[in-house]
Amino acid sequence: MRILNLYASMNGNTEKVATEVEKSLFGMGHDVETVNVARDERELELLEYDITFIGGGVYSWLPCKAMLGWIDRQMAAAKKKGLILPNSPRVPGKFVSVYATYAGPHTGEAEAVPAIKYMGQLFDHIGVTIASEWSVVGEFSPEKMHFMNTCGRLGNIEGRPNADDLRAVREQVCALVQSLAPVVNMAHGADNASAAS
Ligand SMILES: Cc1cc2nc3c(=O)[nH]c(=O)nc-3n(C[C@H](O)[C@H](O)[C@H](O)COP(=O)(O)O)c2cc1C
Repeated sequence: MRILNLYASMNGNTEKVATEVEKSLFGMGHDVETVNVARDERELELLEYDITFIGGGVYSWLPCKAMLGWIDRQMAAAKKKGLILPNSPRVPGKFVSVYATYAGPHTGEAEAVPAIKYMGQLFDHIGVTIASEWSVVGEFSPEKMHFMNTCGRLGNIEGRPNADDLRAVREQVCALVQSLAPVVNMAHGADNASAAS
């Protein structure tokens, strides 16, 4: 199974989650390619991966600018390759899990939702099925914004994501990959059969 672990992190919170995703997958014996899209601007062949994880911090309800730029470039490349088709036909055995880290100071988890939906649409457009959407609380890291960590809609979020958050990430990632494995393997079996005939 080929697994891609994409993320962008301006202040390190999403990086902690992406690192936990990577460790969880290695722990299950899977190969995983981790790419920080804010630093590595390579165009990727997204349909070569069976499962992709993509995550980023929330900035004014959307992913950070580096992630938005990467999505624009991947979308332009997908159009050039003819991958953006009416009705976005599903590509068998291809899945994405989309998450955001967020502080939700004003309206709580609702602030993470647009960012998650935005990141997922690139994949949904090329036929990759969105298998899960999730969020992890991440404190405001810049010192001048620390006061926001104790007076927002989510209560006290100092130190998040913390060890409990990361444990939940690990459990969720392992459960998701286990649940998708039969479908991914079936798709590989069908590919092999058509290559042999
Ligand atoms: C300038 C700035 C703007 C932010 N805007 C929002 C926001 O609109 N909604 C939200 O829920 N969190 C917001 N946050 C909190 C971040 O989404 C949160 O800390 C996230 O974990 C950062 O991830 P990163 O360090 O991986 O970039 C903001 C943080 C900063 C520094």
